[in-house]
Amino acid sequence: MCGIVGYSGKQEAAPILLEGLKKLEYRGYDSAGVAVIGADRIRIEKVGGRIALLDEKTEGGKKLPGTVGIGHTRWATHGAPTDMNAHPHLSNDGRFAIVHNGIIENYASIREELLRDGYKFESETDTEVIVHLLEKYYDGDMKNTLRSVASKLSGSYALGILCSEYPDRVFAVRESSPLIIGIGVGENFFASDVTALVQHTKNVIYLEDGEFAVISPANIEVFDYAGRTVEKPVSRITWSVKAAEKGGYPHFMLKEIHEEPGAVKATIAPRIRDGEVVLDDLPFSEEYLQSVDQITITACGSAYHAGLVGRLAIEKMAGIPVRVELASELRYSDPIINEKTLVIVISQSGETADTIAAERECKALGAKVLGIVNVVGSTVAKLADYVLYTWAGPEIAVATTKGYTTQLAALYLVALFLGKQRKRLPEEEYREYIDEIDRLPKLMQDTIDMNYALPDLAAQIYEKPAVFYIGRNTDYAVSLEGALKLKEISYIHAEAYAAGELKHGTIALIDVGTPVVALCCNEALLEKTMSNVIEVKARGAKVISVTFRDEDEVIAQSDECILVPRTKTLFAPILEILPLQMLAYYTADKKGCDIDKPKNLAKSVTVE
Ligand code: M6R
Repeated sequence: MCGIVGYSGKQEAAPILLEGLKKLEYRGYDSAGVAVIGADRIRIEKVGGRIALLDEKTEGGKKLPGTVGIGHTRWATHGAPTDMNAHPHLSNDGRFAIVHNGIIENYASIREELLRDGYKFESETDTEVIVHLLEKYYDGDMKNTLRSVASKLSGSYALGILCSEYPDRVFAVRESSPLIIGIGVGENFFASDVTALVQHTKNVIYLEDGEFAVISPANIEVFDYAGRTVEKPVSRITWSVKAAEKGGYPHFMLKEIHEEPGAVKATIAPRIRDGEVVLDDLPFSEEYLQSVDQITITACGSAYHAGLVGRLAIEKMAGIPVRVELASELRYSDPIINEKTLVIVISQSGETADTIAAERECKALGAKVLGIVNVVGSTVAKLADYVLYTWAGPEIAVATTKGYTTQLAALYLVALFLGKQRKRLPEEEYREYIDEIDRLPKLMQDTIDMNYALPDLAAQIYEKPAVFYIGRNTDYAVSLEGALKLKEISYIHAEAYAAGELKHGTIALIDVGTPVVALCCNEALLEKTMSNVIEVKARGAKVISVTFRDEDEVIAQSDECILVPRTKTLFAPILEILPLQMLAYYTADKKGCDIDKPKNLAKSVTVE
């Protein structure tokens, strides 16, 4: 969602800000803007639409001379994505400019108060109240002013602020929205995430909630809202600049699909030692492990879908009852969670607002939280009692691919670990699973290599109005993710159904030529799924099955086949999803869609 950048240094700020904003494009946005402190005043340029337009309007930043500035990509919440609603916003006296990521929940009452005081509003945004509050409470000392303003606001906000009285400084404030400071030499930066910083520096400071920073070219000072200085540790970004570039691929999504075997290997390999799952990251005590009587997995979107596979693996291997809840539902559902519940929170970004709220709720109820997270230092990771990082590297495409498969890998490790620790998994089976999990990166690579013909299949479905996905058990869990991939990037209506539910309603939607993607890798249920395949075929559906390459009966019954190497049933989803991601990719490509930045979507959903 919204992204913010800031710069204070000796170079021209605007081109650096524009570059930074381009790196944040993947988060999703619909307008953009920059503000720079010029010789006489703060100058702002902003546009509804793409950064390319802003680039053009400012002549690559040349029209905004100055060495200190802030920039923003906005994902509209309050007010349409117009020029006026785009950030930065300027105070009536022209002294302050701000950019904001998050939502000000009490903006309506503040706005009324400010209107009564005579302040003029130019936009419909919640954000604009902040810049007028800055003007109202400014007493010549920015530290005091920021504290006064923060005390008026409720909601979530990461703020970047310029004040013309301090022409060499940018101010950054964090409350429930990520903000990271990049430390340079004679110049400093801030941004919503490290992708915008990594080309300048690898040394960063993660601001915490309730902290603000005063950033000049030579100095970074961090304070809490009580005005006390906070000594911040400097962290090192491990991602390379290359990791956040397309590297010759036409889209990040395709690059990230091809990175999946390596990402899963990076997630699994360091955690299998001498034939055992070793989770140094999870220092569970023996006593705690035995006390857990239920597991709740919570997440949103694809991470939730990963949780559905995780549930099947954990229940089978460890025999602990697991429920999987959408974070947006769990937070309002009076969940039955207590100190005997292990809560697994899954998030690629670690900044999804609903996921964070659900995590807080579970902690308040006394549960221990295990976070499965990709972004180091993110909010979900910080709140969790234990963190199992997925080592996927930066994921730029809005549609998650390696984020999802590395989450599956992490969940398989947790399932095996719990199965072993709780003495539920017979030794021989455990060994078989360990051997197989080791092979998964290779099997994933084979799957990608085997499916070079997917563009042809995509050509058969890209003009269809709807595609259905069916499967049972593990196959059903992965069909949900397959359908989500297709709908989010190709805008084709795609729905997943538990195959056994077809006859209870959905089969009425099957017509001659309707594509039905049948997931057929759950051996124990294959016969059952095949009877559903035959039923939809009898109604004219075109069946595209995803199955093991030696599953002759399925191959014979299908109109088209997507083949994967054979593996254990519980591990099949990590292979099955690869061609489904590729099918979605090639279908969207054929339709000419903006694959990496699908309409209306944001990479990290930082508002409820
Ligand atoms: O960063 P998170 O894993 O918390 O994100 C959760 C969802 O927003 C995310 O998986 C979303 O569904 C993706 N666009 C799916 O590709």
